[in-house]
Amino acid sequence: MSKSAFVRIRAGAYRTTDVSGQVFQLVEQYKSTAKGGYVTVKNGGKFPGFPEDIRIKVDGVASYEFVTEGDEAVASMITVEVASTQTDEERMAEIAERFEILTEMTKAAVSGDIRAMIVSGPPGVGKSYGVELEVEKACLFDQISGKKLRAEVVKGSATPIGLYQALYKYSDPNCVLVFDDCDSILLDDVCLNLLKGALDSGKKRKISWLSESSTLRREGIPDSFEFRGSVIFITNLKFDTMKSQKLRDHLDALQSRCHYLDLTLDTMRDKVLRIKQIAKTGALFEDMDISDVGCDEIIGFMDTNQMKLREMSLRMAIKIAQLYKSFPLRWKSLAQSTCMKAS
Ligand SMILES: Nc1ncnc2c1ncn2[C@@H]1O[C@H](COP(=O)(O)OP(=O)(O)OP(=O)(O)O)[C@@H](O)[C@H]1O
Ligand SMILES: [Mg+2]
Repeated sequence: MSKSAFVRIRAGAYRTTDVSGQVFQLVEQYKSTAKGGYVTVKNGGKFPGFPEDIRIKVDGVASYEFVTEGDEAVASMITVEVASTQTDEERMAEIAERFEILTEMTKAAVSGDIRAMIVSGPPGVGKSYGVELEVEKACLFDQISGKKLRAEVVKGSATPIGLYQALYKYSDPNCVLVFDDCDSILLDDVCLNLLKGALDSGKKRKISWLSESSTLRREGIPDSFEFRGSVIFITNLKFDTMKSQKLRDHLDALQSRCHYLDLTLDTMRDKVLRIKQIAKTGALFEDMDISDVGCDEIIGFMDTNQMKLREMSLRMAIKIAQLYKSFPLRWKSLAQSTCMKAS
């Protein structure tokens, strides 16, 4: 078995976090790019939800040092997880932080600092909401290189040619394309190849449509162009646990070109806590005029029936709140018939 190399970062950062002094397992030595240099290391659980291989921004090879065998113990000590003993409050804060990262990454995609991001998480937890809010804000206020931001949210499915057209329409640097629940794109060979071209990390991101198409001709779309916009994918697919090997290879190629943010709300407890966390902010039933007592009642009801509900999500909380408002006396039995699995 080959022995792993470990490096201690003398001065460097992962995203916005200073990691100076930390020890990581080395994946690939320093590389420099137009935007600065980086060394690739194993995440090792330090940044949960981020890819297994991460790039630490450093100035050069002098910014990190190899550490000797004894120091590997240091590395493994740092990665020891402290999960199960967390209180609800601590976990809620962590979940809130994960969604703040979603907001920040969306901002970065909007400003063109990152070219592509994939957001993955279970249904109804606020993925679309978080991304759309930022994109809308940016459309209202942002001026990018003197030009107004242009954004479009594509929902549902898209054909390869539809994807090509959308990429062309939003190919300028001041453009953001959001594919929300467009899993068909992520599962289609032709679409994936287009995206690979559009999101490649090289300087030029040229994509081409190889066959003759009257649709493209009619709309005056060239059969190849350079894509300079940003793309955000929102999906329920969990890339890391995809079983099919063929799909894995494909998605790996896409994932390596994108920032991948897994919202990690995988357990029932996490989903309940996410609902409690948004309820706490007062935003959950904002326009519904529901008292604090009502809010506690609804969430308490969901908590008690967590195994019976069809889905544990913000969306479900809103549905039950609507019943609560419309049928103050019967909401529980109505929720039972409409929101719960038949037992
Ligand atoms: N931070 C929030 N504050 C208030 N309401 C929210 C918040 N986040 C989400 N919601 C509400 O919760 C519901 C579900 O959110 P959203 O549609 O964003 O989920 P999603 O994760 O995109 O789900 P899906 O995977 O099914 O598309 C929506 O009605 C949305 O308005
Ligand atoms: Mg959504």
